[in-house]
Amino acid sequence: MAAKYIVVANWKMHPSTLREARKLFDATRKIAEKASKVSTILAPSSLHLLPLSSEYKGKKLQFAAQNAREGDEGAFTGDISVGQVEDSKAEYLLVGHAERRERGETNDDTRQKVASALAHGLTPILCVGERVRSASGEHFTFVREQLKAGFQSVDPNTAHKVMVAYEPVWAIGSEEAMSPRSMHEMAIFIRKTIVELHGAKGEKLKILYGGAVNQENAAHMLLYGDVVGLLVGRASVDPKEFALLIESVQQNG
Ligand code: PGA
Repeated sequence: MAAKYIVVANWKMHPSTLREARKLFDATRKIAEKASKVSTILAPSSLHLLPLSSEYKGKKLQFAAQNAREGDEGAFTGDISVGQVEDSKAEYLLVGHAERRERGETNDDTRQKVASALAHGLTPILCVGERVRSASGEHFTFVREQLKAGFQSVDPNTAHKVMVAYEPVWAIGSEEAMSPRSMHEMAIFIRKTIVELHGAKGEKLKILYGGAVNQENAAHMLLYGDVVGLLVGRASVDPKEFALLIESVQQNG
């Protein structure tokens, strides 16, 4: 990926029809294609992923699935597999997003999904982040456990191929993002943890920030937060807001 920054557009369960998804995709594509400094990774719903990725003939946008179960196929009603994601031309897989963990996904599930994604040639984006913060710093222990589990079945030589998205749960869907200064502190901690667990290649780990990213805070976070990218929810499904966000990164980042 040659661009300086990565922006993941996490559409979550939006929009409600494929027709609207195509419209939003078209707007997103135009925005993404103009921004030389930014690599945009689009994570639409599982149902919209394949039509959008197969209709897209360009090179600038890449695709991610929001979730998948490890392996290729099996008797798992309602699930999609990592193998099916690979077949849909996606190159990335979000793993352990807070909204999945909220619904029961465990650290051990993330371990299996990360390993399966790597085995299928996908880049896992492991999402970590504490629900609450206290002055005693317990959130570092919490994030360390999430990292330890998510990376447990990863070969040390491929550890740097996993991306980590740090998303404090208290910032997701809220009005205010975390400060770049706190992100910087957390990025150092994340890198140190991966180096401790997997050796020096962990220094090359790509870290993203997510949680209330918008046009006002995006460029600042990239400049001062020690991260190479952003995971964007709400602002990615509003084409006007997304255009301003990308433009601000392109101009100021
Ligand atoms: P938000 O969501 O940008 O709407 O806060 C971020 C995320 O959950 O990935």
